[in-house]
Amino acid sequence: MKKYYINIGLILSAVLFLIIFTSLKENNKQSIPMALEGPSILQDDEALQLMATLCFTCHNPDMTTTHEQRLAPPMFKVREHYYNDDVSRADFIAKVTAFVQNPSKEASRMPGAIRNFGLMPKPFFKESDVKKIAAYMYDNDLSSEAWHVQWQKLQNKQ
Ligand code: HEC
Repeated sequence: MKKYYINIGLILSAVLFLIIFTSLKENNKQSIPMALEGPSILQDDEALQLMATLCFTCHNPDMTTTHEQRLAPPMFKVREHYYNDDVSRADFIAKVTAFVQNPSKEASRMPGAIRNFGLMPKPFFKESDVKKIAAYMYDNDLSSEAWHVQWQKLQNKQ
C-alpha cells in the first residue's frame, strides 16, 4: 500500500514537471520570433515567391553566376540604385513599379546595366504583383546574409 502511494506521488510530480516544462518551452517559442522581427519583414514568402517566379530568371540572386551567364544585374544591385535613407517606401514602390511596367532609357537609373544587358524587355505582369515585389525590395536588404538564409529556406521547401 505504501509503495502504491509513492508511485502516485512520483507520477504526480512527473506530470507537474512536464506541465511546467512545456509551458516554459511555449513561452520561449513565442519570445524568439518576436526578438527576430525587426523593421524588415523577412517572412513575406508570398512576395519572395513572386519575385523568384517573375524576376529571378533574369535578376538571378546567385552570386556564383558569372557575368556572361547573367541576363540582368542581381536584384540587390537594382535595389542599391533605387534605395537610400531619404526615399520613402511609397516613392520607392512607385519608381520601381513605373520602370518595370514600362522600361525606358529615360526612366533608367542604371545606364551601365542597359549598356551591358540591353534595356529590360517590357513584361506583362499584374501591377499589384509588381507592387508587392517592390515593397518587398524596399523592406529587405537583399545583399544581407539574413536575406540569403530566407531565400535558401524557400528553395529548400520546394
Ligand atoms: C527578361 C529578363 C528580365 C526580367 C524577367 C526582369 N527584368 Fe528587370 N531588368 C532586366 C535587364 C536586362 C535590366 C538592366 C537594363 C535596364 O536597366 O533596363 C533590368 C533592370 C531592372 C531595373 C532597373 C532599371 C533601371 O535601369 O533603372 C529594375 C527596377 C528591374 N529590372 C526590376 C525588375 C523586377 C521587379 C522584375 C520582376 C517583376 C524584373 N525586373 C524582371 C531584365 C529583366
